[in-house]
Amino acid sequence: MDHFSYKNGEMYAEDVPLSRIAREVGTPVYVYSTATLQRHFRVFSSAFEGLNALVCFAVKANSNQAVLATLAAEGAGADVVSIGELERALKAGIPPQRIVFSGVGKKPSEMRRALEVGIKQFNVESEPELEALNHVAGEMGQIAPVSMRVNPDVDAKTHHKIATGKSENKFGISWAKAPEVYREINNLPNVRATGVDVHIGSQLTDLDPFKLAFEKVVSLVKDLRSEGHAIEHIDLGGGLGIPYDPDAETPPSPVDYGSMIKQVLGDLPCSIILEPGRLIAGNAGILLSELLYVKQGEDRLFYIVDAAMNDLLRPAMYDAFHNILPVAEPGDNARNASVQADFVGPVCETGDTFAKARKTVPMNPGDLVAFKSAGAYGAVMASTYNTRELVPEVLVNGSEYAVVRARPTLDDMIGMDTVPNWLTR
Ligand code: LLP
Repeated sequence: MDHFSYKNGEMYAEDVPLSRIAREVGTPVYVYSTATLQRHFRVFSSAFEGLNALVCFAVKANSNQAVLATLAAEGAGADVVSIGELERALKAGIPPQRIVFSGVGKKPSEMRRALEVGIKQFNVESEPELEALNHVAGEMGQIAPVSMRVNPDVDAKTHHKIATGKSENKFGISWAKAPEVYREINNLPNVRATGVDVHIGSQLTDLDPFKLAFEKVVSLVKDLRSEGHAIEHIDLGGGLGIPYDPDAETPPSPVDYGSMIKQVLGDLPCSIILEPGRLIAGNAGILLSELLYVKQGEDRLFYIVDAAMNDLLRPAMYDAFHNILPVAEPGDNARNASVQADFVGPVCETGDTFAKARKTVPMNPGDLVAFKSAGAYGAVMASTYNTRELVPEVLVNGSEYAVVRARPTLDDMIGMDTVPNWLTR
């Protein structure tokens, strides 16, 4: 459920008409709903009632300070994958004790900063990384809390670019090797094993792969505990999918996901960490865009909008589906006159296509459209390709809204370059 709906003949974000935001801020622009972020966080968290669970929002999905501060106020922790994300999480008020640090390529400088602020744990993905962390922690006279990310070799049944749990993927240590690596941790003076970590992929719409992976992790944790390792928590990663296309996808609910986890854990005396990103932010945001031209091609209709692949990369990168709705509520006449159109952006690449042969209503230049489910992996993946201004972001809260990342000026953007003096003397 989200808070983008038609009222008084047009689409609103909570109590703010999208047409007002388009008029006052310009398009393209991301619009997020506070109420939806809060609702998703609460629904997700309450699925784990009865367990000792920490919900660490995957900052990579949406790292805007206003979004993070909204979630911090709900008690969220953070899953970060870079020093940049760590600083963003801290600045937004997420306490370091609720931050976990994931990622296959942490640099010593990043480890140092994370140790300095005292994060909850490092999710370590290889033996060389473990040794590097041991070294950095040693230099600082600290003992780093570690969970090894294990690769359960499970097919997540999602898009191949966002599946992470097969042995051919770069993530985690091999399943078979895990006991040996935990023994190695015991021999290293400046790391301490506190947990086990797993994350098999993103946008999973089936519980079975999760269940297979979690069962493996639970059996590993039991083995490790019986070997004397003080495994206190299990990090189950993120990945629960959302319904991008309500007609085609019915991902499991957070409640079903939570029940499955409770069942798999049984009476194992461990706390859990969850790292949802998309589930919290995905349907809490839209990308608002204006239709520039309606072009009749030889065999198809093109709707050319002012958003492009640099603003929302998912369709070009993963062939992702985003529902595209007119902001003006279509009346019966428009609905009956439905057309098929390719929604494309202005960037000079054929891949700058948001949807092909999409059934929609007849629209005219100047009409606004909303790309739904764009709150996760939207703005964070945006670029300035084709020297297009980095797309701004707006957060709505009831009847008010704020620009939470302004559109840069072209001078700001071009001013980031410098011309070396041999070209100007
Ligand atoms: N934890 C780890 C270690 C991850 O790598 C990820 C996502 C998450 C948690 C959060 O997963 P989520 O709950 O959001 O599915 N750009 C792609 C998605 C990349 C996901 C990368 N890792 C997309 O637009 O679909």
